[in-house]
Amino acid sequence: MSRQKDAVPIITIDGPSGAGKGTVCRLVAQRTGYHLLDSGSLYRLTALSAMQSGIDMDDEERVAAVAQGLDINFVAADSSTSIYLSGKDVTHAIRREEVGMGASKVAAYQKVRAVLLDRQRAFARPPGLVADGRDMGTVVFPRAAVKIFLTASADERARRRVLQLREAGEAADVSAILADIRARDERDSQRSTAPLVRAPDALMLDSTNLSIEQVVDVILAHAASMH
Ligand code: DC
Repeated sequence: MSRQKDAVPIITIDGPSGAGKGTVCRLVAQRTGYHLLDSGSLYRLTALSAMQSGIDMDDEERVAAVAQGLDINFVAADSSTSIYLSGKDVTHAIRREEVGMGASKVAAYQKVRAVLLDRQRAFARPPGLVADGRDMGTVVFPRAAVKIFLTASADERARRRVLQLREAGEAADVSAILADIRARDERDSQRSTAPLVRAPDALMLDSTNLSIEQVVDVILAHAASMH
């Protein structure tokens, strides 16, 4: 079945947390020269902003109002992007575990997702976009020419997260991290709005036994084969 493609070439990379999407997307963006959308950061920023303002996270209306009013600035450098919320650098703050849990919660709200849709689509600018998330290929950019669904086993994802935390000098308990990953998977895939599912036309890629470089190469080869 042929479908009308987006005017700007888009590569969507969806999948559960810890599958390596962040690093893979950054490298694919570097190799193609495309812009990068880290859509998870928008949910994290919404959660952080709501937490900082003492807003009840169970109040969908108020959380959606927070998402609507976010004052965000992404400042891209060579190998990383700094993220500012109302002028303050929150690049590291939004990666904290409790902000991740808050993000998973606010991401289940239909109103929050609707509010963030236009912000995400605005990232599609020439020469192209690599979009990292859960619903990039299904909801936000359904006409993207190249779609990838990147997974890894829960154990492997927990192992990678522990390594990441230890490298950052933070204490990490494997069983707690694994439980956390499973809880988040469950919530992200069971929610009624934009659940984490593979788009029917997405390439399924299991990174459990692959290096980052191998994953990037498979994606670039797949993208080249689609042109
Ligand atoms: O990828 P991440 O861990 O930064 O995402 C944070 C949370 O946001 C995670 O629980 C899933 C959710 N999310 C989402 O629902 N849709 C997206 N497109 C990206 C992230």
